[in-house]
Amino acid sequence: MTHFGAMRSPREVIFGSGQRKALGLVAKRLGRRALVVTDQRLAGDADFLAMVMDLQASGLAVRIESGTLPDVPVPATLLAADAAREFAADVVIGVGGGSCLDMAKCIALLLSHGGQPQDYYGELKVPGPVLPVIAVPTTAGTGSEVTPVAVLSDNERTLKVGISSPYLIPMVAICDPELTLTCPATLTAIAGADALTHAIEAFTAARREVTPGLTQDRVFIGKNTLSDQYALTAISLLWKGLEAVCADGKNLVARSQVMQGAMFAGLAFGVAGTAAAHAIQYPVGAVTHTAHGAGVACLMPWVMQWNRPVIGAELEQMAAVMSLPNGAAVIPAIAALFARIGIPPTLAQLGLVEDQLDWVADQACGIERLIQNNPRPLDRSDMRKLVQAAYSGVADVMQGAEVA
Ligand SMILES: NC(=O)c1ccc[n+]([C@@H]2O[C@H](COP(=O)([O-])OP(=O)(O)OC[C@H]3O[C@@H](n4cnc5c(N)ncnc54)[C@H](O)[C@@H]3O)[C@@H](O)[C@H]2O)c1
Ligand SMILES: [Fe+2]
Repeated sequence: MTHFGAMRSPREVIFGSGQRKALGLVAKRLGRRALVVTDQRLAGDADFLAMVMDLQASGLAVRIESGTLPDVPVPATLLAADAAREFAADVVIGVGGGSCLDMAKCIALLLSHGGQPQDYYGELKVPGPVLPVIAVPTTAGTGSEVTPVAVLSDNERTLKVGISSPYLIPMVAICDPELTLTCPATLTAIAGADALTHAIEAFTAARREVTPGLTQDRVFIGKNTLSDQYALTAISLLWKGLEAVCADGKNLVARSQVMQGAMFAGLAFGVAGTAAAHAIQYPVGAVTHTAHGAGVACLMPWVMQWNRPVIGAELEQMAAVMSLPNGAAVIPAIAALFARIGIPPTLAQLGLVEDQLDWVADQACGIERLIQNNPRPLDRSDMRKLVQAAYSGVADVMQGAEVA
């Protein structure tokens, strides 16, 4: 047991029903000119317009950028940053789902350091602080309001790309679960399942050798005692709230549990990182055009099954916060929860076809940062077996893994 750990988070996280009304007061401490980044749907929403009026009543000049597109294509970020340059914002406010928050982070980066998103792909390429970002999520899932990541899509690359740097962590996150009340059931399920997957992958991530450079040379440092606290809290909250919120989207208690769970999961994976389920989803998502959350959640029980020989202690700890009798009950319980909220149980049901399995395995192995973060090593042949198991729904094709 080591007590090594690291925490990186916004300077301020404000959570609670109605807290969106704090936005004007928060923003006026950070600047006088606010660039508000959202999408077209939200730009006409009554809650959004009320937040803009609150900013103006607090004395801020406001420019609205409503051109966010799902999955944040790179050209849209450049267009938006160019259009906003003359406004000379001193604070950037993202209001919306993960796409709007990632767009806001990327625009803050481009306004601060110039260039194009490509210059910053990967880890630790952002040269210094960016304009302060206030993140106001309207979905409960990505955790982007607290993470060091902006995920973009670049049509010159098959897989999505990420910019990861502690400088991209928003300065303030304002999480108001009332803003998620309008999320449709499918979005709620997929985003919440992504959050639970973040928490599980962070909690079961590989432990790295602890060196003085570990926290400074890498963004994602693997499992550690501090991110574990966040991850377990996230698992507990999401286990309690996710099914209830999918059954009744107006249940504000469950909405709060899931939004808080997603936020804690973001704090956990923003330091520890994610692993094989995320690595495999990247190519699966690219060929099936299915939502990120549906893919990672479909894969998660199969990846846990592969990891099972080395995550016994974590499964026991998860069982305790999930009120399950023992660690052996955890993987079937997670798989059953995902099934109940409509996540496809196999890659075949997600829409993958069998002749794509080799390509998916190759591409997933190529995402070394995530594969190295997996607690049980996966070489190409192991990966092929894991992908086959997740495709066909038969766990015993995985060498060394027991059948659930
Ligand atoms: N930065 C990170 O740490 C991180 C982590 C995981 C995923 N991501 C990225 O986040 C993006 C996905 O984000 P998302 O799942 O939040 O979805 P999203 O932001 O792409 O939004 C999906 C749709 O839901 C709508 N929507 C948002 N809030 C709503 C509400 N309250 N009511 C009704 N509709 C609403 C949006 O207008 C949009 O049409 C992907 O690009 C993914 O790669 C980022
Ligand atoms: Fe994710």
